[in-house]
Amino acid sequence: MCELVIEGGNRLRGELEIQGAKNGVLPVLAASVLCADTCRIERCPKLRDVDTAIAILQHLGCRVRWEGTALIVDAAQLDGCEIPDALMREMRSSVIFLGAILARTGEAVLSYPGGCELGPRPIDMHLSALRALGAQIAERGGLLRCRAQRLTACEIVLPLPSVGATENAILAACGAEGTTVIYNAAREPEIVELQDFLCALGAQVSGAGGSIVTVTGKRKLHGCTHRVIADRIAGATYLCAVAACGGSARLLGVDYRPLSTVALALCEAGCRVVSEDCAVRIESDGALRAIRPVRTAPYPGFPTDAQPALLSALARSVGSTVFVENIFENRYRYVDELARLGAQIRVAGRVAVVSGVETLHGAHVKCTDLRGGAALVLAGLQAQGRTHVALPEHIDRGYERIERDLSSLGARIARHNT
Ligand code: EPZ
Repeated sequence: MCELVIEGGNRLRGELEIQGAKNGVLPVLAASVLCADTCRIERCPKLRDVDTAIAILQHLGCRVRWEGTALIVDAAQLDGCEIPDALMREMRSSVIFLGAILARTGEAVLSYPGGCELGPRPIDMHLSALRALGAQIAERGGLLRCRAQRLTACEIVLPLPSVGATENAILAACGAEGTTVIYNAAREPEIVELQDFLCALGAQVSGAGGSIVTVTGKRKLHGCTHRVIADRIAGATYLCAVAACGGSARLLGVDYRPLSTVALALCEAGCRVVSEDCAVRIESDGALRAIRPVRTAPYPGFPTDAQPALLSALARSVGSTVFVENIFENRYRYVDELARLGAQIRVAGRVAVVSGVETLHGAHVKCTDLRGGAALVLAGLQAQGRTHVALPEHIDRGYERIERDLSSLGARIARHNT
């Protein structure tokens, strides 16, 4: 077992290279299944979720190896179509492998991805899209048995701009005869990254970043080299850390545009956030003020994944801020742990009101989930005294080494075995 131990109170300053994007690389690794060739994935973040994706690829018969920060995936020998239950439980977003496995092999077997700490995580839109393309999917005994002798292009309308359902539809459509059009597609930058990767493989995909994505399938695919985009949520997390602690930092390799809603909120709270050439700079005096209500929304709205970090950063602000979490039903589980540090937050369903307090005090807290865990770290950085954050493996799912990154900016944080 281990824990993160934080001595709060330091201002943060310096430069930090932002890691490759977790939510960018996972669909890219799923897409690597499509071609019987080798792909080189550069700036691949070393995360627990990437480890799980590697285990899935290897279980399917792919050969995977690291070369420094590049991951080499050879899917030529792929001979499986099943994702074991243990791996599905390890990472419910493994469901995005479904479309690619179907497109490559014509069948797929995986256990139903359960809910997670954020609440029920249905996949009805994923399955509807795959059925529209011609997949037969039997759901029995917690298993999804999928077959698709032939996938045929069609028009898919997503009821919600679901990121995962968009990715699954695009990946399956790559194996469909004809041209598929996906309406109400998610517009996240990670969808654009998936399109870029697929086009580098020789697929014909266009429109990503907008609400209508078009895929012409059955193209001859070949390997490629791809560099993973910077992780905008890790970037947002570290912006919130500097905002809360005070100081000045440059986040390198990250683009301002996907961070603009977070940057706007931090500017309203009293920070200075500036776009530079392939970097974002933030300056803060650490004395933040409350801001207008924060409503999470599909991209380009305020990202749900940055909600915990911003809420934590405002725990010592002057005034009260209202948060409305419109994407997930249960994304405030970390709030009870924040309260142990003295934060004043009232939650009612999807609404949370954070009323700033003068001081937070170090405490023993436990991570409840990935982004909630990062929020606890941000609160510990602000607190007087020592904070112990248990179960940091939740955080390790999405942040390469959060203590290394924050220490490089001057935080007093270390990982201890308990
Ligand atoms: C992706 O999850 C991200 N994960 C999440 O990041 C992110 O919070 C989310 O998109 C929203 O941006 C990855 O990319 C691996 P959705 P995903 O499908 O695809 C409902 C993190 O912390 N829905 O866009 O699962 C769903 O319940 C993680 O990095 C259905 O009802 O998100 C949710 O309320 C957390 N039926 C909403 O749509 C479906 O078939 C948005 O979910 C699919 C989704």
